[in-house]
Amino acid sequence: MTSRYRDDPAALRALARDAEVHRDVYTDPEIFALEMERLFANTWVYVGHDSQVPGAGDYFGTTIGAQPVLMVRHEDGTVHVLYNRCPHKGTRITTETCGNTGRFFRCPYHGWSFRTDGSPAALPLPSGYENAAFAGSQAALGLTPVPHVHNHRGFVFAKMAPGGPGFDEFFGESLSSIDNMVDRSPAGRLEVAGGVLR
Ligand code: FES
Repeated sequence: MTSRYRDDPAALRALARDAEVHRDVYTDPEIFALEMERLFANTWVYVGHDSQVPGAGDYFGTTIGAQPVLMVRHEDGTVHVLYNRCPHKGTRITTETCGNTGRFFRCPYHGWSFRTDGSPAALPLPSGYENAAFAGSQAALGLTPVPHVHNHRGFVFAKMAPGGPGFDEFFGESLSSIDNMVDRSPAGRLEVAGGVLR
């Protein structure tokens, strides 16, 4: 596919004028891919509300940019955001949008299992990996967590890029809209009910 925008900042700038936006902003696959790579992969993104995962083992699957992720409640009550990607061969750990996985996720391909904080739990036939330098590998660390996760009054946000502004710096005053909403609720807390329209 011919690239019209990737290496052409002037062409990108020309897409938006004071009073109009070029239709490619809405329809061009290359613009969409660039948005995923350059915008959503580098900024704080809302993942979900922690009331969507009320019990241990509850998970909610979504994406940050083009990356599938899982928001999951661990057995100690903490909420984690993990890449939905097996560290062995990259298989999706689950294709369900939500559910309860119990104490472990189990990869459907070769059966590796992981605790709900992403840490490795068990491998079938572990002796088969003895000569594969498995112990020191990235795969041995388990499911990769998204590097930055912040829970603001139940609203869970994450950022994939290691650098960039922190949560408070990025959102600043705009957090007051969440605070106003939560403060007005009689229980002092919100709950997402009835599923989520995606
Ligand atoms: S790809 Fe997940 S266990 Fe092999």
